[in-house]
Amino acid sequence: VVCLESDLQDGQMMEVEVGRQTVLLARTEGKYSAIGNQCTHYGAPLSQGVLSGHRLYCPWHGSCFNVLTGDVEEFPGMDCLPCHKVQSLTIEVTTYTISQLFVSTGAASLSCAEILRQEHFGGRIIIVTKDDLLPYDKTRLSKVQQKLESSFFLCLQALSVDTDRKSVTFNDGSVHSYDQLLISTGSKGLDVPGRKLKNVMMLETPEDARRIHSACVGANVVVVGTSFVGNGSVVVVFKYNSNNINREVLVNEVVLKSGKVIPTDVLIVGIGKLYVHTVTATHLLFSSDLQFMRTNVPDVFCGGDLAIFPLVMAKNHLVNIGHWQMAQAHGRIAALNMMNNATELASVPFYWTVLLGKTIRYAGHGEGYTEIAIKGTFEEQKFLVLYIKEDVVIAAASLNYDPAVSAVAERLVTGRVITKKEAQYVTIKSVSS
Ligand SMILES: Cc1cc2nc3c(=O)[nH]c(=O)nc-3n(C[C@H](O)[C@H](O)[C@H](O)COP(=O)(O)OP(=O)(O)OC[C@H]3O[C@@H](n4cnc5c(N)ncnc54)[C@H](O)[C@@H]3O)c2cc1C
Ligand SMILES: *[C@@H]1O[C@H](CO)[C@@H](O)[C@H](O)[C@H]1NC(C)=O
Ligand SMILES: *[C@@H]1O[C@H](CO)[C@@H](O)[C@H](O)[C@H]1NC(C)=O
Ligand code: FES
Repeated sequence: VVCLESDLQDGQMMEVEVGRQTVLLARTEGKYSAIGNQCTHYGAPLSQGVLSGHRLYCPWHGSCFNVLTGDVEEFPGMDCLPCHKVQSLTIEVTTYTISQLFVSTGAASLSCAEILRQEHFGGRIIIVTKDDLLPYDKTRLSKVQQKLESSFFLCLQALSVDTDRKSVTFNDGSVHSYDQLLISTGSKGLDVPGRKLKNVMMLETPEDARRIHSACVGANVVVVGTSFVGNGSVVVVFKYNSNNINREVLVNEVVLKSGKVIPTDVLIVGIGKLYVHTVTATHLLFSSDLQFMRTNVPDVFCGGDLAIFPLVMAKNHLVNIGHWQMAQAHGRIAALNMMNNATELASVPFYWTVLLGKTIRYAGHGEGYTEIAIKGTFEEQKFLVLYIKEDVVIAAASLNYDPAVSAVAERLVTGRVITKKEAQYVTIKSVSS
């Protein structure tokens, strides 16, 4: 017996010890449930997350679980939580089997394959990637050094797609036919003169991370892109702006649009989503069914960093979002629709990063915000910023203010608007309630 029924009010949760395990007990919509307390992404204590109905938001990176079943409802968590049977006035606790999964090279393709299997798709799934690596967590490249082994993964580069014959040609000359195809090749490189010069480095693979690390020791380093990929320990000179894409990058100096010249030994390109509009498959990406990740070509789906898609929370504006969690969500929607389970994409973007050892979280889509409301202070390095457009909160960013961003994400997903007035008086509690 872990507690009395009266210890837990509806909408509450608590951590309890069962044997040597910590289990999260929740009471929602009149039902009690017991699930694992550790987020299956990076292990955050879920008891510190946000519970809304049967949906439990992790305090860290936007994963959401069904507290009644342990199922994943929002990525980046891939595994379900263990779910235990709960009984009133009995001591029996039964553990259900947990399925084990792995995150792969391509966030979108892996989650697509995973969901297909979860939905009992019985056909063949082939994943092809040009990386000769075991699946890895790309979001960790810019944060921790990873040791990875090369593997026997099917490593081929797709050269072309014949949508009439329904086949893909690879760089070894082989041709694979498909019934349904998911294109999720991620984003492409920096499109400026000089991009092929030595010491211009992209951070895309673990090998890139190793090369960058050794090249940067004692060197003058310039990082292109002030988005979240560049580590705060180096000087970041560019402010990314799609209008100044035509700057020149030279072997030993970088010329800004303003004419300013910056000497550099190494140039790191950490611009993630800058180059979306140069994708080769662009002609495929426009169709009225993009909320299902379908392209205008029958049986060809797309997803991840290369996709331009309608974002429900932004009134279906077409957007391109380079987030790990969004790529996974695309993969899931593609999988369901491949199986004729017409499901629309409804995820809210969630992003996190680590700069100078501090974790910054961001949820929503802040494009076009006109006002902000700030809780806490930048000086204390403890703050929550709410981005407001047309009197409604459209995004939030935080440092040391958990689980506020998860609480905002929850509100954005469920479509319950946070008004400007509410934002101005907000406390963590009132956002989540
Ligand atoms: C350094 C770094 C740090 C990041 N940190 C974060 C973070 O903290 N949080 C966050 O939310 N997001 C982060 N991101 C973004 C996140 O990694 C991407 O949004 C996500 O990986 C996109 O998934 P995807 O499936 O579209 O493509 P990817 O994961 O990029 O996978 C594309 C795959 O396609 C393969 N491919 C490409 N072309 C071909 C071809 N012609 N033939 C065969 N295979 C091909 C590639 O080899 C690769 O395996 C980071 C990205 C980088 C680079
Ligand atoms: C990022 O910067 C921090 C702080 O300077 C440093 O400790 C860390 O090693 C850097 N990470 C990488 C991947 O270079
Ligand atoms: C469609 O997908 C949803 C989400 O996984 C699932 O709950 C539902 O059972 C599926 N419907 C069908 C008809 O397979
Ligand atoms: S630890 Fe829960 S979402 Fe990452």
